[in-house]
Amino acid sequence: MSGNELRKKFLDFFASKNHLVLSSFPLVPENDPSLLLIGAGMAPFKPFFTGKMKPPHVRISTSQKCVRTGDIENVGRTARHHTFFEMLGNFSFGDYFKKEAITWAWEFLTEHLQMPEDKLWVTIHPKDNEAFAIWRNDIGIPEERIIRMEDNFWEIGPGPCGPCSEIYIDLGDERGCGKDNCGVGCNCDRFLEIWNLVFTQYDRDEDGNYTPLAKKNIDTGAGLERIASVLQNKNSNFETDLLFPIIEHTAKVAGIVYGQSAKTDVSLKVIADHGRSMAVMIGDGILPSNEGRGYVLRRIIRRAVRHGRLMGIEKTFLVDIVDVVTGIFAQAWPDFAEKGEYIKKVIRQEEERFQTTLAQGMELLNGHIERLAQTGGKVLDGAVAFQLYDTFGFPWELTLEILAEHNLELDKQAFDRAMNEQRERARAARQANEERVIIPDLSGLNTEQFIRDESTTQANIVLLWKDGKVVEEVHDDDNVAIILDVTPFYAESGGQVGDSGLFTGPLGKVEIMTAKKLPDGTIYHLGRVSEGTLKTGDTVSTEIDWKKRSHITRNHTATHLLQAALRKVLGDHVNQAGSMVTPERLRFDFTHFAPVTQEQLAEVEMLVNREVLANNQVEKMETTQDKAKEMGATALFGEKYGDIVRVVRIADFSKELCGGSHVASTGEIGIFKISSEAGIGSGVRRIEAVTGFGALEYINSRETLLLTAANLLKTRPEEILPRLDGVLNSVKELEHELALLKTKLAKGEVQNLLDKVQTIQNVRVVIGAVAVNDADGLRSVADMIREQLGSGVVGLSAVIGDKVNFVVMATKDVIARGIHAGNIVKAAASAAGGGGGGRPDMAQAGAKQPEKAGVALEAMLNIIKQQLG
Ligand code: ALA
Repeated sequence: MSGNELRKKFLDFFASKNHLVLSSFPLVPENDPSLLLIGAGMAPFKPFFTGKMKPPHVRISTSQKCVRTGDIENVGRTARHHTFFEMLGNFSFGDYFKKEAITWAWEFLTEHLQMPEDKLWVTIHPKDNEAFAIWRNDIGIPEERIIRMEDNFWEIGPGPCGPCSEIYIDLGDERGCGKDNCGVGCNCDRFLEIWNLVFTQYDRDEDGNYTPLAKKNIDTGAGLERIASVLQNKNSNFETDLLFPIIEHTAKVAGIVYGQSAKTDVSLKVIADHGRSMAVMIGDGILPSNEGRGYVLRRIIRRAVRHGRLMGIEKTFLVDIVDVVTGIFAQAWPDFAEKGEYIKKVIRQEEERFQTTLAQGMELLNGHIERLAQTGGKVLDGAVAFQLYDTFGFPWELTLEILAEHNLELDKQAFDRAMNEQRERARAARQANEERVIIPDLSGLNTEQFIRDESTTQANIVLLWKDGKVVEEVHDDDNVAIILDVTPFYAESGGQVGDSGLFTGPLGKVEIMTAKKLPDGTIYHLGRVSEGTLKTGDTVSTEIDWKKRSHITRNHTATHLLQAALRKVLGDHVNQAGSMVTPERLRFDFTHFAPVTQEQLAEVEMLVNREVLANNQVEKMETTQDKAKEMGATALFGEKYGDIVRVVRIADFSKELCGGSHVASTGEIGIFKISSEAGIGSGVRRIEAVTGFGALEYINSRETLLLTAANLLKTRPEEILPRLDGVLNSVKELEHELALLKTKLAKGEVQNLLDKVQTIQNVRVVIGAVAVNDADGLRSVADMIREQLGSGVVGLSAVIGDKVNFVVMATKDVIARGIHAGNIVKAAASAAGGGGGGRPDMAQAGAKQPEKAGVALEAMLNIIKQQLG
């Protein structure tokens, strides 16, 4: 029975059991970020199992294309492992359950495929007595061929899952490992699992919690290639008609015969498996790259190239496999063959790229492997693996596999480190690139023919450059500049940032970060190749990031409204001095000679929003320079416009010369909100504002601020003002109380010092240290003492922070006796490492050495004695 016949027989069988037969879903999952690739028949049906969506029928059957790479190292080494395979499956969404699933599986295998009953074994979950009873009583399998296995629970990431029951076929002693404990579950090829019946009754969430599903379901998976190998009596899947044509073809290319060397057989099998994988993946729209699915594909292609080399194939050979693969699937998927030429192109490029560096890379790696062998080392430096990756395109897993063949390991941590460093460098380079683009010599280019046309969706690549040099083609991860013959992209100018978006070519994609203009006005696009390859001459579809553009247009039209409103509110002297329109905000610089008051800003905001709500049409018209002037359109100071200019008019409110992007009518702006106003130079002010979602975000963040403040004040936002008033009042009261207390304390200090008054030459002198918080406090203590003394001199010190302050005051009569406060304070301060001076009646000073405060007071006393002497 051919593979095609088997597939059809399976689907027909389940159609006869009232199943809706669907064709295979593409390998790229739709709306399921938890999966990179479809790896099981049930994967596209997850929402039907969980009940999130209603299936077209409660019973469905498919033969699903699957890719799994978890076992990639085993591919070619066992009879049954693949990266690509087809999974035959029947599914019940809340309809039939264990009994029917088991009965039908048995019926199909034994009656329709005539598999010998006595060679079939089954496994069940240890706790699944229900399945046990069905197998033993209803089907009649002897107990000893029903095996309870702990790991009979099936799940793939988060989503529907449940206990399962597997069907195995015993292929006989001669296929086994011969070990005593060989049996079902052994890794060898004797007991072949051909069907897995999953009793899907749980939903697993991201955190690993299992919730029972409302309805019980069935999900089964039978390996098409495995069953074919049994029916076709082959030693492995690779010898069935689903894979063998590739082996035959490749063996011919390599000039070898299959079955003569274990080593080349492995390579032939790897190529057969990988050949199918790569063709089907590319057919489903995946392109080689260094990320995600693209990386899986790249790894598969490069692994296959290497195995070709291992068999001595020096030229490119994978391209020719594509026809063999499309031939194998011609019957199952008629439209697959139509993609053949495209698939070949992608493979040719990737293969050629890798071929050129593979030999060099292998030489480098072999050198390191030899050295390790000589020194007895076991671990390859991560930096070498990184060099292989970066310079020679070796997926690190490939390096790892080659090392494993020599019983060596890889320092993966060092590799990861090198990889991260490179990512960091690349990001920095991209940023720098954005800032400073090196433009190559383009003098030979007739740029006049290149145009901008907003309605364009397809264009041709006229020129590519990279690192300042014109190149013919660019590959994934390249930072590139692109000129198209026609582009819908807006290039950065007049303060408006350039558009972003995506170019999709026949064999690759570029994410466009921005578009700019050459000095002659030709638009070029800056981007990074995210997948595959692009060449000069390629036709690309041009997709603008419309979301970003719509934010930009809102902000740009609002800028015009803002300028008009400012002129109305502030006067005609307002002229644009610069502007910046990004998706996030608008910035408008203008001439004005005083701060804009709150009231004026509110009025401007109100005027603009009135225009927004009026939902006026934004008219764009081309006219001559002179006509535009006649119309009274606002133009920038000193800006040169061509003969024909574009006027953007919004009702009678605003008329400006402008080539930028605008909304169709003002209502699209949604709301306009000024976020800041400030002076940025003499006579120039800057307003920043937000519109649409940006305004909503701004207002929301303000609201959050208010809520947080209310929370801090332990009240609701509405109560915030009375509460704040209350808080401020009580602060005032507390301050008053504090002042009273301080005065009381100070009075105490005053009394203490007065108690220690000395009399020198009949003059009353108070000298001492006080504890106060600041210079003011010190002064007021001195004041009080002077008052109390009536006649005399007072000199005080106080340590405040890490300094010491001094104050000296003298009454008039003692000044007449020779006392000079300024000189006294000077002597004190200099004793503590400072300086100062002042008037005869009052002086203060500070010094940096508080530890010298005592010495300073002695100095005070001494100089007073001198002055009175
Ligand atoms: N979903 C089950 C499997 O992949 C049938 O084995």
